[in-house]
Amino acid sequence: MFANRTNWDLTPNRLSEALAAHRAAGKPLLDLTVSNPTGCGFSYDSKAILEALSNPVALRYEPNPRGLESARRAVAEYYAARNEAISAEDIFLTTSTSEGYSYAFRTLCNPGDEVLIPSPSYPLFDFLAEIQDLKLVRYPLLYDHGWQIDFHALEQAITARTRAVIVVHPNNPTGHFTKSSERTKLNAICIAHQMAIVADEVFLDFALDGSRAASFATNSGVLTFTLSGLSKISGLPQMKAAWLTVSGPQNLKREALGRLEVIADTYLSVNAPVQLAMPAFFEQRHSFQEQLLSRARGNLKELDRLLTRQNVCSRFAVEGGWYGVLRVPAVRSDEDLAIELLTSKNACVHPGHFYDFRSDGFLVISMITPKAIFSKGITAVFHLLC
Ligand SMILES: Cc1ncc(COP(=O)(O)O)c(C=O)c1O
Repeated sequence: MFANRTNWDLTPNRLSEALAAHRAAGKPLLDLTVSNPTGCGFSYDSKAILEALSNPVALRYEPNPRGLESARRAVAEYYAARNEAISAEDIFLTTSTSEGYSYAFRTLCNPGDEVLIPSPSYPLFDFLAEIQDLKLVRYPLLYDHGWQIDFHALEQAITARTRAVIVVHPNNPTGHFTKSSERTKLNAICIAHQMAIVADEVFLDFALDGSRAASFATNSGVLTFTLSGLSKISGLPQMKAAWLTVSGPQNLKREALGRLEVIADTYLSVNAPVQLAMPAFFEQRHSFQEQLLSRARGNLKELDRLLTRQNVCSRFAVEGGWYGVLRVPAVRSDEDLAIELLTSKNACVHPGHFYDFRSDGFLVISMITPKAIFSKGITAVFHLLC
């Protein structure tokens, strides 16, 4: 009856089961994995957000495969404010970055084609690829005075079926940005193998040192699809407002835009009230990003203070994004450790293998956890381990 591609093993993992039991028993929880910004104690301008959703222009349906021009102009202005010139004609609105990935994959790949993804990285890729009948091939990131791409391994991973390489800039959970020298190398590799770049920049604005990394949206050397959205940029995941931009050599860009237009026209997925509200939602980013960065910097400082009191655990350098990675003794599986932290210390962390760390000894924590919970939670983790 069903397609092989949906033949998933949907049994919950042991940590999810333990967490559900913990919650059902009404036990206290120091949740160091929270990443839903609307549940982390940030203050939003509710009036401006709700008013933006009641624009009477939304009563009229004006379908446009790329999305309403006013909304795409707001996206272009976001890039202009970062000194990156993007035309509204090169932007497609989507309901999420995940939808943006599916547009890019559908444009580039036949069933069974391959896409390179960084490892460690974000756990949603497997499902996204399976739904599109793609094969993911991992290229390792190395840690040596900061995270970097293992270019030798990346080149070894390329086959005649490789269509694209994904970069997450900055990556989740390693929090490192793709360096400009790495971008130059990626471009050369993609030209040599006729591959495209798919850049996920949902965390681009969250550099902890306040620096402004260049976006891939203006990368012109190879066909490049850049994905981002307001779920992270303005902390509004519930609004389902995201986009995909296309850049690259003119002939490839023209071809990609034409094909994308048909895909987007088939779905016309973004609703009018949200599109009309996008300029106002972009405005929210200033206050949101200030609060978020202050939270993440404060938590990092607290983490470093607690780390100096022990000598068993350490952390990886983090440049940006919402996550941190702890190095812990690999004396048991990370999943067993996470379950023990939950049951004995009420602290919830993610084991590294959720993010494709290939060995034990890594825990992933959310740096946007409310301050008091973060401090208590990390203290509890170190109590168990040290
Ligand atoms: C790297 C990365 N890309 C995309 C997303 C999802 O973004 P969206 O809500 O726009 O689908 C996330 C969510 O955590 C993420 O970590």
